[in-house]
Amino acid sequence: MSNLKEILLNKKPCKLIWFMRQAGRYLPEFRKIRTENKNFIKLCMNSSLASEITLQPIKRFDLDAAIIFSDILIVPYALGQDVTFKESEGPKLSRFDSKIFLKTSEKEFSKKLAPIYKAIELTRKKLNKKKSLISFVGAPWTLIVYMLGLKKENNQLNTKKFKELENDLDTILSNLINFLFLHIKNQINAGSDVVQIFDSWAGLLPENKIKSYCYEPNAELVSLCKNSQIPTICFPKGINRQYKDFNILVKPNGINLDPDIDPEWAKQKLKNVVLQGGLDPKILLKTEEEIMLGATKYIKTFTDIPYVFNLGHGLLPETEPDKVEKLIKYYRNFNG
Ligand code: CP3
Repeated sequence: MSNLKEILLNKKPCKLIWFMRQAGRYLPEFRKIRTENKNFIKLCMNSSLASEITLQPIKRFDLDAAIIFSDILIVPYALGQDVTFKESEGPKLSRFDSKIFLKTSEKEFSKKLAPIYKAIELTRKKLNKKKSLISFVGAPWTLIVYMLGLKKENNQLNTKKFKELENDLDTILSNLINFLFLHIKNQINAGSDVVQIFDSWAGLLPENKIKSYCYEPNAELVSLCKNSQIPTICFPKGINRQYKDFNILVKPNGINLDPDIDPEWAKQKLKNVVLQGGLDPKILLKTEEEIMLGATKYIKTFTDIPYVFNLGHGLLPETEPDKVEKLIKYYRNFNG
């Protein structure tokens, strides 16, 4: 059986399934560890616990890939910002200081994130060889949104702040791309074989800015990865019909659909790429019938093209693990 890496490189139809946020708060075994470890960043930096959490969903379910337990905000953390998570408030970052950011060396950065690479090594040793180990980074724009606080409480772009800071963004972007590629290479060297690039806030960008802040930085990262034979899955969440231009310009190996993308439209318009995901994670909070109906639409539309089953965003904390198991079984047993 082919694994995720081979499918991404060869773009063949397949039967593969994994979930974003498959290791997380919906699992009681994760919540137990989390209650005992109040500092989230410290937990990410605990190699043996991070590896254990990564493997929790693999022990429970018939999944084809593990995704390393970490966070996209570990990169701003390594570049000098404090990052804290308060229950139901989302992440809080200390003020961005360009002096600290610009003076961080590659050596310091890799040293600070060494526990994550160690967690990947430990996990690779324990994971069945046929299963992929996915590592990830936030896309430059999404990280900038958090680092500079460009998002308002209502999840809209803070246009005023964006305009004020726009002149500084080029330097920040190019520096960030270097460090993100370094983080990708370090994770691959430690034993991961696929990289997912999360541009969770791509949808905040006005149409005339999407090229400079979403397509181009993603394209640069993807091309650096391609030169090193590293397969990439991009997730430009919330950009609607611009998924088509994104795919043409960025040329990732795989692209994760969000719930707004009609599967039939994706099949017609997104070519030369492995499609992934799309099913609204909220569906998993509904009845079994509704879950299977929702899943069937994706499975049927994509039967004859390269498609990896996943969701349109991460599993929600309220999801019952039992429903996840049923969905996986339904997918595995689906015929015709
Ligand atoms: O997918 C996995 O199982 C691997 C682990 C993973 C986490 N974060 C662990 C986590 C991954 C891939 C991420 C990516 C991530 N982190 C993204 C991109 C994907 C997306 O959701 O859009 C973003 C934007 C973040 C930033 C982040 N981290 C936020 C906004 C939050 C708080 C709210 C939330 O979404 O959970 C986190 C915290 C976080 N990252 C948790 C987990 C398991 C919850 C921590 C807790 O227990 O409080």
